[in-house]
Amino acid sequence: MNRIIEKKLLAQNIYLIRVEAPRIAASALPGQFLVVINDPKGERIPLTISDYDKEAGTVDMVIQQIGVSTRLLCSRNVGECYASVLGPLGVPSDFVKMSDEELRGRRYLFVAGGVGTAPVYPQAKYLHEKGAVVDVIIGAKTKDLLIFEEAMSKVCTNLYVCTDDGSYGFNGLVTKKIEDLLSQGKTYDQAVAIGPMIMMKFVTRTLQPSGIPLTVSLNTLMVDATGMCGACRVTVGGKTRFACVEGPEFDAYQVDFDEAMRRQGMYNNEKVTSHTHKCKIGRE
Ligand code: NAD
Ligand code: FES
Repeated sequence: MNRIIEKKLLAQNIYLIRVEAPRIAASALPGQFLVVINDPKGERIPLTISDYDKEAGTVDMVIQQIGVSTRLLCSRNVGECYASVLGPLGVPSDFVKMSDEELRGRRYLFVAGGVGTAPVYPQAKYLHEKGAVVDVIIGAKTKDLLIFEEAMSKVCTNLYVCTDDGSYGFNGLVTKKIEDLLSQGKTYDQAVAIGPMIMMKFVTRTLQPSGIPLTVSLNTLMVDATGMCGACRVTVGGKTRFACVEGPEFDAYQVDFDEAMRRQGMYNNEKVTSHTHKCKIGRE
């Protein structure tokens, strides 16, 4: 059982939830994720870790309420418990293997889309603390859906906020901002994109000619998140890989995004008709 100790509405239907999970907090690293189970018979929901505090023994996650299971997770209040929070799962970001000396001054570009901004935060924070140069682009449909602006501004060198409708910051998609930065002569040693699959596909297409290495975090369907069911499989470099145990981060230029998007949408009808709590299928 994991007790909720903080719950904050970040934007419409998007909550930050902080839970007690001392063992997860003690070993969590940027790039990893959790599986949250609301009640013992409930669905296993994979969620990226948006922060962790080793001393307080807490982990944060950001949940967008868009289906039956995420609605149940968001309906819990401070003081109540989830049946289980499992983790940290997945392979941490590659940069955690680099020494402080290698990271100091290394130039990173993060491209964060919508709710995908939450998992970018611990990565930017880690690198900022190591003295890396961290530029972050955050994209949101509109100003009201923007999350983590203030927190992110404290852990990055330059923050570029974009809205699709021009209601705040740069007017346009994140890809337009990338083109803008590249045209100004900005260069990076590594880029990381986390957000909707379609965004990651087009960020990949936009950055490829620049030769800047790019990592993406794949939010595939997941069922067991232990490498046994195959629900999360993706094709990377022509080979089948399991995002839950071999990812979720992969070299963007090797990912078959079209297949990944087809697989991600495979159970949309079942999700729509799942008015009860019976559907066991993947991330919503
Ligand atoms: P969104 O649809 O509002 O998109 C966010 C931004 O992505 C947009 O503002 C835009 O700048 C960019 N974008 C979208 N489509 C684009 C395109 N075709 N070309 C270029 N840029 C484009 O995002 P949302 O509604 O918050 O979507 C949340 C999605 O993020 C969900 O699908 C969720 O599963 C996913 N997510 C992913 C991760 C991950 O680890 N990859 C983590 C959390 C959430
Ligand atoms: Fe089952 Fe990855 S979710 S193998």
